[in-house]
Amino acid sequence: MKILCLGRLPQDMEETLSALAPIEFIDRTTALPDDQLIAALQGKSIILTEPQDGLNEKVIASAPALKMIAQRAVGYDNINLPLCSQRNILVSNTPGVLDNATADLAFALLLACSRRIVEADSYVRSGQWTGFENDLLLGTEIAGKTIGIVGMGRIGYAMAKRCQGFGLKIIYSRSGDQGRTDCEIEIDDKDRKLTTELTAQRVSLETLLKNSSFVSVHCLLSKATTELIGHKEFSLMPPDCIFINTARGKIVDEQALADAIFTNKIKAAGLDVFYSEPEVHKLLLAAPNVVLAPHIGSATAETRHAMAKLAVTAVLQAFQEQIKPPNLLNAEIWTDWQKS
Ligand code: GLV
Repeated sequence: MKILCLGRLPQDMEETLSALAPIEFIDRTTALPDDQLIAALQGKSIILTEPQDGLNEKVIASAPALKMIAQRAVGYDNINLPLCSQRNILVSNTPGVLDNATADLAFALLLACSRRIVEADSYVRSGQWTGFENDLLLGTEIAGKTIGIVGMGRIGYAMAKRCQGFGLKIIYSRSGDQGRTDCEIEIDDKDRKLTTELTAQRVSLETLLKNSSFVSVHCLLSKATTELIGHKEFSLMPPDCIFINTARGKIVDEQALADAIFTNKIKAAGLDVFYSEPEVHKLLLAAPNVVLAPHIGSATAETRHAMAKLAVTAVLQAFQEQIKPPNLLNAEIWTDWQKS
């Protein structure tokens, strides 16, 4: 058995995993071309991947030895999951361990935009500061405003907790709410708990967009959420709205976002993810009211270690201990997988 690992692992995790089987590492920051990935996958039973790696139909179909994909990320839009299940390939991800880090970054972007921290830093460094001015770099107050959280999974919830601490009123929409009106939304126990705990209210996406001074995206990228936020959605936001995206770039029509920024349809944006990473729309690069980060939502030393550990543990559970990893995305194939 052989393992292919895209990107390096922390030293201790490399040692733990290499006790199972020899590992070939490939360092890359963007997706390998399909033919290179296919060549590297020959004879490999396990691959460790990250969000940029394209485990598409062609690649999966050309990797006959592949038994497991361990994704070091919570999002898995880069993997053709239905095909993996069909081909009896286990797929795991790393939920739960990156919620705080990602929500911290989302909130940091929210603060950076509302208090113009990046502009302020450049202002001081470039020698423009001449002394205290009453109306210098005026920002936006947070307390008492409303945030709309798009996607109330673990990271959305971690964001909501931070927002509550800063005195924001919270409204949110959940996956499956797209296209539904407020009356068509069926409130469940999770919603009742969120209302009790955070006075958060579930609303339709349209109501959320119309009523939020801050909109923060935390849903998975799927067919249903691709370009979920486009021209129409930006036009519904109030002109003082600050837009934050730490989920996936393709959830947003980037041209529509650039237009919204340049025509002052919204006030500012904080972005950690982009449509076609590492490319950034040139209008967004030029806008002083846009704060940019290079997909670092989960990038704390502690969290990145925890993600590697969760991925390596899932591989060891499946191949060494023969116990079903709790973080499988296709747990339904486990019994068949064990027999194969
Ligand atoms: C990072 O982008 C993740 O999905 O964990």
